[in-house]
Amino acid sequence: MLLTTIEDVGRYQGQQVTIRGWLYNLRESGKLLFPIFRDGTGLIQGVVSQKEHPAVFETVRELTQESSVVVTGIVRADARAPGGYELALTGIEVIQRVPENDPFPIQRKEHGVDFLLSHRHLWLRTPRQTAILRIRAEAIRAARNFMDSQGYILTDSPIFTPAACEGTTTLFEVDYFEDEKAYLTQSGQLYVEATAAALGKVYCFGPTFRAEKSKTRRHLTEFWMLEPEAAFARLDDMMELGEQLVSHIVQSVLAHRRRELDTLKRDTARLEAVRPPFPRITYDEAIAILQKHGNPTRWGEDFGGDEETILSSQFDRPVIIHRYPAAIKAFYMQPDPQRPELALGFDMLAPEGYGEIIGGGERISDYDLLLRRLRENNLPEEAFRWYLDLRRYGSVPHAGFGLGLERTVAWICGTEHIREVIPFPRMLYRIYP
Ligand code: 4AD
Ligand code: MG
Repeated sequence: MLLTTIEDVGRYQGQQVTIRGWLYNLRESGKLLFPIFRDGTGLIQGVVSQKEHPAVFETVRELTQESSVVVTGIVRADARAPGGYELALTGIEVIQRVPENDPFPIQRKEHGVDFLLSHRHLWLRTPRQTAILRIRAEAIRAARNFMDSQGYILTDSPIFTPAACEGTTTLFEVDYFEDEKAYLTQSGQLYVEATAAALGKVYCFGPTFRAEKSKTRRHLTEFWMLEPEAAFARLDDMMELGEQLVSHIVQSVLAHRRRELDTLKRDTARLEAVRPPFPRITYDEAIAILQKHGNPTRWGEDFGGDEETILSSQFDRPVIIHRYPAAIKAFYMQPDPQRPELALGFDMLAPEGYGEIIGGGERISDYDLLLRRLRENNLPEEAFRWYLDLRRYGSVPHAGFGLGLERTVAWICGTEHIREVIPFPRMLYRIYP
């Protein structure tokens, strides 16, 4: 028995192979049956005639959608077949037949999104969803490879934390033994600042949590973030690293996941353009662009989805906006020495209205200033004592950023909503399955 996968059948033209998978579809045409099988690596059409293989024919005829099978057949090149090959069946073993009185809930027709989300565990099997998950995996592989190749050491940050990083309003609180409270991390940043002082260049990559009551196509309550941090690095270094990282991810997906992008009908010409350098504008320039487009945002205000869409639509690749007013950014941002009312931070906005994919910048390295900011923000000094220590023992200028994985993958895939690009999305009012 020559066991293979659908993705690899091309290597076995004219030979008899065995594939393990599920029935995706079944078409009957006279005395011929055309079952389509899927195995996670692709789809292949089988063909079986009643005359040549009556027993196989009868078994296939009784198959229901998503029944699990082991099929054997001869591989034939066929330009009309999806994938370019057809399997002339010679044998079939049914592992589990889905009964017709309890059919697979997701049919090949349009379903409402609530229904699909409630059946996410099954929805994942459809070609569009498997294409997205393969692209997500490639994006992760590319991102890690890139960071490793640049000499960044992976140091993962904890998920249980004693305090807030990105503001106290979006914390998930959990009971942590006896009377103690812990919070699910909003960002691994504070901890990579510590490991950067130990190792120089580091990153973490893991799940982060935001109790945001936002019901938009860009928000999850649990999402993955890749966060580089480097000792002695400055704002400019991080803007450059960010554009290289994003370009590398996009170009790797184009190189290795073409077929999946085709499945999604993604306009790849727009992705081809994603190469450094990316346009860079200041917050002041961004405000001027918004005002020119009749947007009412005034200096000092933060950007929302509408503003981000106007700004990103001016460019053919991601745009970097730097030097925001310090008042609208996190407590840890280093002020611009030229204009202390500005923070040495940046955001990167994806094209096509996908919003902010990166946020980051330079961190405050001065002990007294950081302590003042903690107090101004009413943050608990006790919980941040270790973080202040980093400014007591060999403090150096340092910088980093966080790349939101799902926002990035949603943009690359061109999905309408971010919820499709994570296996099991966690959102406001949705935690099942
Ligand atoms: O801009 P944010 O809040 O930055 C930080 O957390 C920094 N501490 C990161 C750092 O400097 N190490 O979040 C970073 C990115 C955003 O640009 C966005 O892509 C993503 O995380 N993000 C979300 N993605 C999905 N759902 C949400 N609710 C998100 N909130 C932020
Ligand atoms: Mg941000």
